[in-house]
Order: sequence, then structure tokens, then C-alpha cells
Amino acid sequence: MAMTNFDSRVFLAPMAGITDKPFRRLVASFGKGNIVSEMVAVNALTRQNRKTWRIADVRDEPYPVIVQLVGGEPELFAEAARVAAELGAGGLDINMGCPVRKIVNNNSGAYLMTDMPRAAKIIETTVRATSLPVSVKFRKGWDHEHVNAVDFARMCEESGAVRITVHGRTRSDFYAGRADWEIIGEVKNAVKIPVVANGDITDGPTAAAALAATGADGVMIGRAALGAPWAVADIDRYLQTGVLPPVKTTVEIMQVLLAHLDGLEEYYGSRTALSLSRKYVCWYCRGLREAKRFREHYVRLTGLAEARTAVKEYFGGLSAGEANGGEER
Ligand SMILES: Cc1cc2nc3c(=O)[nH]c(=O)nc-3n(C[C@H](O)[C@H](O)[C@H](O)COP(=O)(O)O)c2cc1C
Repeated sequence: MAMTNFDSRVFLAPMAGITDKPFRRLVASFGKGNIVSEMVAVNALTRQNRKTWRIADVRDEPYPVIVQLVGGEPELFAEAARVAAELGAGGLDINMGCPVRKIVNNNSGAYLMTDMPRAAKIIETTVRATSLPVSVKFRKGWDHEHVNAVDFARMCEESGAVRITVHGRTRSDFYAGRADWEIIGEVKNAVKIPVVANGDITDGPTAAAALAATGADGVMIGRAALGAPWAVADIDRYLQTGVLPPVKTTVEIMQVLLAHLDGLEEYYGSRTALSLSRKYVCWYCRGLREAKRFREHYVRLTGLAEARTAVKEYFGGLSAGEANGGEER
């Protein structure tokens, strides 16, 4: 079964505040992989909130983007699905795993794992409203006393989801501890639709291990892509060829970071780009020599031109081959 737009088994995870247009473009520039947007609130989308519309607008991206919707009112999903389609979505994903209190208190995200009738209604409403493929992303359960991923997966399938992604942690785990791949295997055995494994997949070998352990059809990569927009394509290539990519040199990392800064500036303007770049810069220099000193310097910079110079000086001053394996990674 063709599972994805790209015929790749690797997915970039939706990450609020991270997988925006500049980041998605960068990820796609490295090769194959399925790209998911940040989550988009259905109530804001249907109220024609300009900021939310801009977040959901993927029309000018030269590859299909799966737009992730988050919300708790089933009736809003029909209109949201239509708007997202107009704004260029190549597929829709419904967030039923977000653990954040603000989301959960709105009958959204991981809350929906505790309210299967509502979750089913949301999926059915969305599927009925659009011809786009509708997928669902959820967790192992609400907490360790309420592990219901298998039942939840069956409900998603019955409600018309074409694919599910399972993050092997409960809501109460947030991001702590190790992701449980066993439960993903149980889900895989319980449904016929493709299952994507998520949680603690960091590179080609861990992706291959997750596929072997779970029998899943695909893998989704979140935090491992922070400061490493090449990770999705590298993992895709590894799964196809078994070849590990060469470790990026510091010069290559610098070039990617500079391209990221350009993308941020183009999309957000220079002020916002500078402030957003602070978190990205921290990730790009993870594990490198004197990273801490550089980060401290970077966060005090007040202009993007200075920021570019600082990046060139720092990365240019590191000798080739210093990336990865450092003490802080
Ligand atoms: C900063 C951040 C933002 C996230 N935002 C979303 C989101 O908008 N929607 C969602 O379904 N999951 C979100 N997640 C969860 C990830 O998609 C993924 O399920 C989780 O990070 C586990 O995968 P990993 O171990 O590969 O990071 C977010 C995670 C992080 C770290």
C-alpha cells in the first residue's frame, strides 16, 4: 500500500514552534521524507484568524505537507478540513496526543484518549468533510493505569483514519523516560491501516530497530531533527540502503544554519528571525567545542547581520570533523 505522499517510510514529527515553513523547506531540501506542519488550532482556523491561516498555508511548498489539526469540537473539524485543503494541505493529521494542560483542558490533544466517542466523532466528521487522507497521532494512553492505545487504534481505523502514529509514552510521561515500542507492536497487530512508530528514534539504526521491534510501517522523527534538518532524509536513505551518512563537518553545519537564518528572515522578518534563531542555534551547536560560550554570546546579539558574523566566526574557528560525539551531545 502506498502509505505516503513521498513513498517514504520516514515522517518529520509535527512540532509546535519548530516545524514551520522555513524549517520544513530546509528538511525537504535534504531529500525524501514526509513533512508534517506544526499543529493548527481548528477554532482559530475556522475563525479566519490571520496568524493561524498563515501557519496553515502550505500552498507554496513544492512538496505535499500534512497539516496537523488540534481541537476538541467535532463540528469545527469539517470547516477546518475545508480551509486546510484550500490552503494547500496534502493530508490532514489530527492531534490526539498533545500533553500540554492548555490543550488538554480544551477537550483536545491527549484528552481525547479519555473520550473515545468524541475522538471518533472528530475523525468521522473530518473524513466526511474532505477527500484528503486523514491520519491520527496519539499516545500509549493517558497514564500508566489507562493504557488504551490498542482500543484507540481500532477506533481510529473504524472511524476512517488512513494511518495512525503512536508515540510510545503516556500523557503523564510527557517526554520523560523511554518510549515503549512494545505497545506500538501491539497496535500494529490490532489494525490493518499503516502504523507509524514514534518516540526515541534518533538515526538510521534506531529507526531500523523500531521497525523491527514493532513491525510498524514507518517511523516519525521529532527531537532528533532539532538542529539536524538532514536527519529525516538521512534516515530515509539508511532504511533504503543500509548506509550511514557521513558525519557532518562543522562547515556543513554552519552552511545549514546560515540557510536556516535566511529562511527565517525571509518568512518572519529580521527581528523575529533573530529571536527565533536563538533556540535553533543552541541545537545546531550541541556537542561542539565551547558551545556554551558561543550560545551565551549569541543570545546577547541584537541584529541578524551580527548573528551571521558570529556564526561564521564560531563555526569557522572549529576544525573540520569536530561535529558530533562531543561532550554535550
Ligand atoms: C518542541 C516540541 C513540540 C511538539 N509539538 C507537537 C505538535 O504540535 N503536535 C504533535 O502531535 N506532537 C508534538 N510534539 C511531539 C512530537 O511530535 C513527538 O511525538 C515527540 O517529540 C516524540 O518523538 P521524538 O522522541 O522523536 O522526539 C512536539 C514535541 C516537541 C519536542
